[in-house]
Amino acid sequence: MPQKPDYGIDAPGVVRNLLVIGAALIVSGFIFPTIQLGNVTILWSRSAIWPGTSCLVGGLLMVFYAKWGKFRHRDMMLNMLHWRGDEWVLDIGTGRGLLLIGAARRLKTGTATGIDIWSTKDLSGNSLEHTRTNIDIEGVQDKVELKSDDARKLSFPDASFDVILSNLCIHNIPEAEGRTQACREIARVLKPGGTALISDFINTGAYRETFIACGLKVNRTSLNPFTFPWLRVVRAEKS
Ligand SMILES: C[S@@+](CC[C@H](N)C(=O)[O-])C[C@H]1O[C@@H](n2cnc3c(N)ncnc32)[C@H](O)[C@@H]1O
Repeated sequence: MPQKPDYGIDAPGVVRNLLVIGAALIVSGFIFPTIQLGNVTILWSRSAIWPGTSCLVGGLLMVFYAKWGKFRHRDMMLNMLHWRGDEWVLDIGTGRGLLLIGAARRLKTGTATGIDIWSTKDLSGNSLEHTRTNIDIEGVQDKVELKSDDARKLSFPDASFDVILSNLCIHNIPEAEGRTQACREIARVLKPGGTALISDFINTGAYRETFIACGLKVNRTSLNPFTFPWLRVVRAEKS
């Protein structure tokens, strides 16, 4: 049977905690409708079931995003560009190759490079080897390169790429200065005439400000309701 690519579950620890805590709260609300603390009776069913339901629904929406929404979001992002087929593309925080492989499919003579630090906290089963397997299964190995690299200090010369893509990566950098540095690096390695599409669920206003300070022309999409968390794309163009 042909192997299927696996693009992983984003933030697997968060998904697990939401599902486990949500289920535990709901079950405890049914088993212990009231709790007696001394003279005080707590209506536990009411206190536990609604927060539990919110956690469970949040966890399920994140699984739904990982299995369905992220492919729609990838296609929406790639459709924001007019592809010639000869572009040099960089996917920052490529993970298991979602945008990288999608972009490679639109190339004829160009090359798509994916960089990552392969954090398994941010994406389940995240490793260069698993990404290589997805690339082989999808049959784009002749158009793709993979590299271990940090978004804050890219190892590419200035003006290397026509297209720079990134989804749900930059918010993982803990310090604001690190995120700003990553945006400056994107502006540095983007070719004049090139476009960067940076997608995230928080901090997109700050990315926008940094790109503007770097002299790029910037706009931002509205939230995509088919993702969870809801994602926005910052589009930055270098003249
Ligand atoms: C939630 S995953 C998203 C992966 C992929 N872009 C996708 O949409 O499926 C975030 C990715 O960003 C990577 N990442 C986190 N911090 C990074 C950094 N400083 N430099 C490069 N990659 C980073 C993680 O290793 C992980 O692969």
